Amino acid sequence: MSEKVLHYNQPALQGALQIPGDKSVSHRSIMLGSIAKGVTTVEGFLLGDDCLDTIACFKKLGVEIHVEGTNVKIESPGIDGWSEPSEVLYTGNSGTTTRLMLGILSGTNVHVIMTGDSSIAKRPMKRVVEPLRLMKADIRGRADGQYTPLAIQGTTLQGIDYKMPVASAQVKSAILLAGLRAQGTTIVREEVVSRDHTERMLQQFGVQVDVADGVVTLEGQQQLTATHVTVPGDISSAAFFLGAGAIVPNSEIVLKNVGINPTRDGIIDVLRAMDANIEVHINDEAVMEPTASIHISTSTLQGTTIDGALIPRLIDEIPLIALLATQAQGRTVIKDAEELKVKETDRIQAVVDELKKLGATIEATHDGMIIEGPTPLHGAKLQSYGDHRIGMMNAIAALLTEGAVTIDDVDCIAISYPAFFEHIDQLMK
Ligand code: S3P
Repeated sequence: MSEKVLHYNQPALQGALQIPGDKSVSHRSIMLGSIAKGVTTVEGFLLGDDCLDTIACFKKLGVEIHVEGTNVKIESPGIDGWSEPSEVLYTGNSGTTTRLMLGILSGTNVHVIMTGDSSIAKRPMKRVVEPLRLMKADIRGRADGQYTPLAIQGTTLQGIDYKMPVASAQVKSAILLAGLRAQGTTIVREEVVSRDHTERMLQQFGVQVDVADGVVTLEGQQQLTATHVTVPGDISSAAFFLGAGAIVPNSEIVLKNVGINPTRDGIIDVLRAMDANIEVHINDEAVMEPTASIHISTSTLQGTTIDGALIPRLIDEIPLIALLATQAQGRTVIKDAEELKVKETDRIQAVVDELKKLGATIEATHDGMIIEGPTPLHGAKLQSYGDHRIGMMNAIAALLTEGAVTIDDVDCIAISYPAFFEHIDQLMK
């Protein structure tokens, strides 16, 4: 765990950044590329710790994976040719790896034991294990399958018609990936639509998936055809610099190659609602995952309300949005966001505690937070709780303070954005 002292003295941020690959899409490229027989190539892959853990898991299943810069080549015998690993699969800090692998492995002919780090050990897995058991999956784990380590004995699955109790792309994706191997049809019904990268990428691998009015339908026992995947830049990483550009004085930033999938772009709506100076220039809407160049400059922000169907479209951006709200005029209310409590850490508690240490006026509620602004922020000693997004929120806050901000653990930022501090330095030059 390495501590970092940040004393930026309110620099102006100027220039352009190429945003690194999307974490969700990078994970899925390895997963689908490993299920498909043959050679899948990936460009723009995120070399974050979570995605590297996904690669390590599939290597243990006998898939050959070569990484060269941000290009990845996957040579797979196909899901029916995977070998039974003699070692435990380690999913690190990654909820996406753990939950999607549960769905994928349930319908194979191998036995696997999966475990992760101390944060993963506390995160709820029953939300995935329960629907998979309804599909006849054989999964065991602590507290009847709620927590890692988890043991999966691959078996023959049955399709399911499932109404999602929470908006979660990880749960939806695990069911769909199990449904690929199952007998019969699998249907997932979402009241509030979560990110749809799995549906899009399955189609790119030649799978017939129907999506209409929050209902995803897929016939079982379909084969995937190896292909080429282009990963867009991660809007959840871009969000930290969109935020910095809006609140750090005299700033003007261009973020290139930002994924703007409509199930992920809620941060753009929020910045517009807060009156930010933001312009979105779309590159090509016709591709699997559309991208844009986004311009942002120092803005006088207004408070806003964030709730309902908007929440899943920006769930990972809420720590950053809370920081923005400390600099906005008036009150910002974030509600319907209980899911924050079961992320890499309890993000309601972590955001409120750390922003309070900097002098913010912020209170936790049962499903979100209320922030009054604007408030000047001062230096403090902050914690990241091993959570990359809390670490980055703390570091962006340090761009505003006169005094130094000390962050206990910055290594965790490499989970999703290894080049984060280099990118800050690049904009200060
Ligand atoms: C993800 C889905 C979201 C998100 C996570 C990545 C994915 O989690 O918070 O960072 O890749 O499917 P939930 O599915 O738990 O909402």
